[in-house]
Amino acid sequence: MARTDNEKDTAVTFTPIGVVESEFDGYASSDEMRKRPSRIVLRPEMAPGLMGLENETYILVLFNLHRATEYELQLHPGHNPANPLRGVFATRSQYRPNAIAATVAEIVSVEDNVINVTGLDAQDGSPVLDIKPFRSGFDQPGQAGQPTG
Ligand SMILES: C[S@@+](CC[C@H](N)C(=O)[O-])C[C@H]1O[C@@H](n2cnc3c(N)ncnc32)[C@H](O)[C@@H]1O
Repeated sequence: MARTDNEKDTAVTFTPIGVVESEFDGYASSDEMRKRPSRIVLRPEMAPGLMGLENETYILVLFNLHRATEYELQLHPGHNPANPLRGVFATRSQYRPNAIAATVAEIVSVEDNVINVTGLDAQDGSPVLDIKPFRSGFDQPGQAGQPTG
């Protein structure tokens, strides 16, 4: 589905904090991509925001699936007709209305404005919207701070 005029009128604008450098510049599966290293290169003026990140193990990377220009509200996961039809918000499909991806990546090193990682499934040139430390005790449902009932 193409984006509607109303969607364009109510758009929220983000300025990427950086860009992903990856050996994958087109489609590849997440599994294949996540085995390979990649670099998150922040705009140099963002570098102070990385202070202390070298002490973390994993980060949650929010990035724009910028090559996914259309979306599907219902789809067969993996584009496999054998998989039952699902709503897009019940899947991790890249063809989603806001084309935002969220992937937990492992930090290899932090150098100036660059984070070297593994486990990221972002294609080369993907705009990076935000980075947060992944905290198992915070992000895992049922752990501290999460409702269990
Ligand atoms: C299904 S998405 C899942 C992304 C993330 N792990 C998530 O769950 O939100 C992963 C797929 O998106 C594709 N992809 C990665 N970066 C992209 C980009 N900038 N534009 C379009 N597709 C992209 C990859 O090739 C991969 O097949």
